[in-house]
Amino acid sequence: MSLKKEGVARRVVVLGTGGTIAGSAPNARDNLGYRAACLTVEELLAHLPPDACPLHAEQVAQIDSKDMEFGVWKALALRCAHWLAQDDVQGVIVTHGTDTLEETAYFLHRLLAWRKPVVLVSAMRPATALAPDGPQNLRDAMALVRTPGACGVLVVCAGRVHGAQDVRKEHTYRLDAFGSGDAGPVAYVEEGAVRQVRGWPCAAPDGRSLERVARITELPRVDIVLSHAGADGRIVRALLAQAPSVRPQGVVVAGTGNGSIHSALLAALEQAQAENVRVWRTTRCAYGPVLPAGEHPLPAARELSPVKARIELMLELAGA
Ligand code: SIN
Repeated sequence: MSLKKEGVARRVVVLGTGGTIAGSAPNARDNLGYRAACLTVEELLAHLPPDACPLHAEQVAQIDSKDMEFGVWKALALRCAHWLAQDDVQGVIVTHGTDTLEETAYFLHRLLAWRKPVVLVSAMRPATALAPDGPQNLRDAMALVRTPGACGVLVVCAGRVHGAQDVRKEHTYRLDAFGSGDAGPVAYVEEGAVRQVRGWPCAAPDGRSLERVARITELPRVDIVLSHAGADGRIVRALLAQAPSVRPQGVVVAGTGNGSIHSALLAALEQAQAENVRVWRTTRCAYGPVLPAGEHPLPAARELSPVKARIELMLELAGA
């Protein structure tokens, strides 16, 4: 009989990956001179007040998220898919660094289809700081994961809840470092209560999450190039000149404004496209999609930021 049927509190699984939330500094007054990924996920949970909800913790990785790699993404997605499939698990929390959190969130969002929440939680100050933000963010993540109906891949930071599709790190220093652009947050966590303001970003469950993740053995190489004043096509031509084994199968260009591209860079990107490299166009602007504006030789990735478009293109090329 499942725990749920007996009316016993359902489990929450916490997967640790490192980041500043698990960071340590030699001086408690120093919020910047620290090393990320020092404390284990069990150590982070030890500081939470006792809770009726049973927790299960696992350390999937212990890294500064700037060093995020496909291997960690895959291990994390497999553990999420495993735990979400358990009847007695209410949801999964992932502790993560802020720097590439939006990429991990998008990767998980694309591969996991469950009516349960996966909540990514981070911090801007190390765990050893005089006033760390991690413990409060973790408490908010607990409140969110246990909210009836909450589902999809969510990010909670400084009391705001963002969907994986929209979330973006917007600030280098402030505790409230994430935003959802025009879409705005999905919910707020206030004194432990979740106030939902728009629909949860759930994907229709199809029972194939585990298989979908397991099938991907590697992600094809996709690079990002930026259009800017004085941009030329040299970087793109250098990529095209690489040996076939390392040559990118895709390039995402972060254009200016509504996805416009310096004409010299555009010529090189068109050459790449002619040589069977998939080229997608995004914008380097923080807000707004690339809107259709007449004919353009390069397809637009619409509302996806450059880093998320790169993940989308890698997954598409991998057939996922
Ligand atoms: C990281 O992304 O792992 C370090 C920075 C942070 O978590 O804020």
